[in-house]
Amino acid sequence: MALAEQLETLAIDIAREAGELARRRRTEGVAIAATKSSIADIVTEADREVETLIRARLVAERPGDGFLGEESGAERGTTDITWVVDPIDGTVNYAYGIPAYAVSIAAVRGEPAPDRWEALAGAVFSPPTGEMFHAAQGAGAWLDDSRLTVNAEASPAGSLLATGFGYNPATHASDLARVARVMPIARDLRRIGAASLDLSYVAAGRFDGYFERGLQPWDHAAGALLVEEAGGRFTRVALEDIPGRPLFVASGAAIFDELLTLAIGP
Ligand code: IPD
Repeated sequence: MALAEQLETLAIDIAREAGELARRRRTEGVAIAATKSSIADIVTEADREVETLIRARLVAERPGDGFLGEESGAERGTTDITWVVDPIDGTVNYAYGIPAYAVSIAAVRGEPAPDRWEALAGAVFSPPTGEMFHAAQGAGAWLDDSRLTVNAEASPAGSLLATGFGYNPATHASDLARVARVMPIARDLRRIGAASLDLSYVAAGRFDGYFERGLQPWDHAAGALLVEEAGGRFTRVALEDIPGRPLFVASGAAIFDELLTLAIGP
């Protein structure tokens, strides 16, 4: 089996186990452990416990690899592979009991920075639905055993789009202005609250496109590979007004250029 597919198999295995733990903890009640970038940006005890499980499994299976996780930070390895992990993407949904959250695990090669790495494998597991989205470089994107393709055609009714907003209230006005610019090509807009699921849904053709500013590497590492392996396009654009808060756009080719132009704005 090629390296990317071996890593995919491992990512699937660990994401399922981690997701089961997250689901079990959810039924026992959620404790907020801390806030991060703002008071709205929370981490639960379960986020930490699930990331610890994922890290321990990876160390046991592939001790030389690096790690970049939302809750426990970065560590370079001795191989060229780094695991990029969001233990619970959609933490606010998780805390409120909304069944839209996911475990996102990706394996990347090279410098562990999104503009330089090469994504090899990824798994996005949705515990509330039991759906496993997964991809390996060159081997396609899949939902369980079904091959995924993005929506290739633009619908005459407009595009079903998704977006997200960061936790910093200072950026909400410009994010809403972006939504207003994009709405003329939309049939409707969704805001699920878990970027890894937004990207997986673009790969699955459940959304025509997705845009959001300010994602972190672990929010998009696995999902971006899913979109590309499903025949779609994904990009990250640095915008000058707020450095360090790039714009991310994903869709099929038919609407990509127009969506990107509208999302970037004047
Ligand atoms: C967040 C979710 C949300 C997105 C935020 C992310 P988290 O991740 O993906 O949909 O809008 O930008 O930070 O904090 O729940 O892991």
